[in-house]
Amino acid sequence: MRLRSTGRTLATLAFAACGAANVLAQAVPPSPPENPTTPAKALLGKALFWDEQLSATKTMACGTCHRFEQGGADPRLGIHPGFDGVFGTADDVVGSPGVVASDAAGVYQPAAPFPFAPQVSKRRAQGVIDAAFAPALFWDGRADATFEDPITGAVAATGFAALESQAAEPPVNAGEMAHFGSTWSDVAARIAAAKPLALALDVPPALSSFVAGRDYPALFRDVFGSSDVTPQRIVFAIAAYERTLVSSDTPFDRYLAGEDGALTEPESEGLAVFDGAGKCFLCHSGPLLTNHGFFNIGVRPAFEDPGRFLVTGVPSDLGRFKSPTMRNVALRAPYFHDGSAATLADVVEFYDRGGDFHDGQSELIEPLGLTVAQKAALVQFLATATLDPKIALRTPPFDRPTLYTESDRVPNVVAPGTAGSNGLVPRLVALEPPFVGNPSYALALADGLRGGPAFLFVTGGGPAPALQSATFALIALGPLSGAGANGFASFTTAIPRDPTLVGSTLRMRGIVVDPAAQAGLAITPTVEFRFFDTP
Ligand code: HEC
Ligand code: HEC
Repeated sequence: MRLRSTGRTLATLAFAACGAANVLAQAVPPSPPENPTTPAKALLGKALFWDEQLSATKTMACGTCHRFEQGGADPRLGIHPGFDGVFGTADDVVGSPGVVASDAAGVYQPAAPFPFAPQVSKRRAQGVIDAAFAPALFWDGRADATFEDPITGAVAATGFAALESQAAEPPVNAGEMAHFGSTWSDVAARIAAAKPLALALDVPPALSSFVAGRDYPALFRDVFGSSDVTPQRIVFAIAAYERTLVSSDTPFDRYLAGEDGALTEPESEGLAVFDGAGKCFLCHSGPLLTNHGFFNIGVRPAFEDPGRFLVTGVPSDLGRFKSPTMRNVALRAPYFHDGSAATLADVVEFYDRGGDFHDGQSELIEPLGLTVAQKAALVQFLATATLDPKIALRTPPFDRPTLYTESDRVPNVVAPGTAGSNGLVPRLVALEPPFVGNPSYALALADGLRGGPAFLFVTGGGPAPALQSATFALIALGPLSGAGANGFASFTTAIPRDPTLVGSTLRMRGIVVDPAAQAGLAITPTVEFRFFDTP
């Protein structure tokens, strides 16, 4: 689908909206006829969106990369080396860390450029707040209004289904949430067998009374009339939830509604620049402060990330990206598809100088010659006038559970390691939730001397005991494999469903026999696991 600028200015829309109470408070996003939103469906979607069990590793929920306090984007900043594949150069991208690469059985595998580390996305995560109003989603708009069932390929939603199209991607993406080769059938089977939100804490009351100890098939029966947990239903529920993530009550909304004094003096001055000398309204127009169009504004050369061109194949779309909403933009730093602008002031300077790369750049972008005062006013408008106070207050719809990865149940390093002859301190990769009964827990020892015999040294909790401590287990991992100097061992293991383990701790370090290292051994930092139970 091609999208064009509507050409309507903010000023026109603001005028049209005058007198209407609160523009977005009343706006209900469009939904596909096949997927009407109901309160129960939105609650099921909320459970799925915040459930880390949607990922194959049980470490990534949709909400891991999309947090309200970050305007629906990702507070965790990972670095992708960008087009040139080299870290530390100008084309690096601030992206979202996803899963560690693993094979179909869940065993971690070395994968460049992120060996045994969370893989980082090639673009900055966008906000999910108000995404429901966009006719197409992702920076390149590849999630379009027609949704095809991920199993059958049949059209399952005929219009307004960009959210459904989008939600079909991450759960089977081996960089974000999946193992290599994971299918949507695997995802649906995993959800059907999972206890809803088993890894979450602080589940909001309305969500917890909806779940009420039931399993997912029971929740699906409640919402869809039968207990089948299908990919399409998972996607439909998540999209229905996202249609509730609408921001409202911003000073800007009250201004549009004609309220006197809704904007402070500096905010009003900033809006005047936004709508005037800054020409921002040309692409960021209307109550959503976007025209949903695609433009090459010259953030980076188009060959690095061709953007919209990847979807349409039309040469003029090279380097074009979706014009984002300015609602709640202050929360979403860093900015642009590559996260290259750290602050709103940096963004304003970017526009003031007419962008950075001019090949194929939109003719709407040119040097602005704003005064220092105009720039400051513009930043002020963006910083405060478009913020929905419900986000900071975490009131509905912006209430949410705490994730496993945000809690103190993540295994943590309690003592440093020692380097091997390759100059690296080997490390244990232990990210998955150590709950009793976890059938497949992935572990890896990475960055050891290749070919070196390796062991896991495991003790009970408490201060790290000396190697000769009486209560320990030494588990042989065999010689480390891998290419080049750096070897690894990786495997999965089951954590017994033993209630006496709950609350107990265990400390683990990897030991690599490395004759050229100090004392002939390279040792990983010590990682402490605390076993927990799921409700
Ligand atoms: C590993 C981090 C990660 C996970 C997990 C993740 N996302 Fe995203 N999300 C991203 C990134 C990065 C983008 C931008 C990608 C692009 O444009 O190519 C994005 C884009 C989006 C968008 C588009 C917003 C817009 O304005 O176009 C929506 C909606 C969204 N994600 C929802 C979800 C949902 C629903 C899930 C779970 C099924 C999910 N995400 C899981 C990182 C993630
Ligand atoms: C020609 C259309 C156009 C004009 C004019 C325009 N923008 Fe943008 N804006 C975009 C597009 C497209 C992007 C995304 C570009 C990218 O990431 O490569 C964007 C991104 C942004 C972002 C980053 C948002 C985020 O979530 O990362 C901010 C902030 C922003 N614009 C503010 C402004 C301001 C302020 C002005 C006026 C000085 C302005 N824009 C003028 C099209 C435009």
